[in-house]
Amino acid sequence: MLLAWLALIGAVFGARALRGWVQRQRRLLVAIGYPRRTVDVPRGWSVLEASRGFGTPPVDVRRPGRCSTCRVRVVEGAADLPPPSAHERRTLERIGAGMDARLACQL
Ligand code: FES
Repeated sequence: MLLAWLALIGAVFGARALRGWVQRQRRLLVAIGYPRRTVDVPRGWSVLEASRGFGTPPVDVRRPGRCSTCRVRVVEGAADLPPPSAHERRTLERIGAGMDARLACQL
């Protein structure tokens, strides 16, 4: 029983590693860099979701898309990002954010 249990635990870790490898091979992950580390997250996650998932939320979020407390500076890869929505653009213009700023909850 103990060996079966250990094998099952090992299989879970093995499957997880395999999933990560497949995601990297198929480029299903996006790298997000923070000042002290870089994390790979699945495509479709917002920067805010990624930050929360890896324990580095930018701020306490109260009004997604409006409060602007989640703004981040994009220092690399901006050309690969979708343009800000009209809603995001209005919020960034309202606070006078620079051209390299985006809202983590919308990006
Ligand atoms: S969480 Fe408020 S604008 Fe993103």
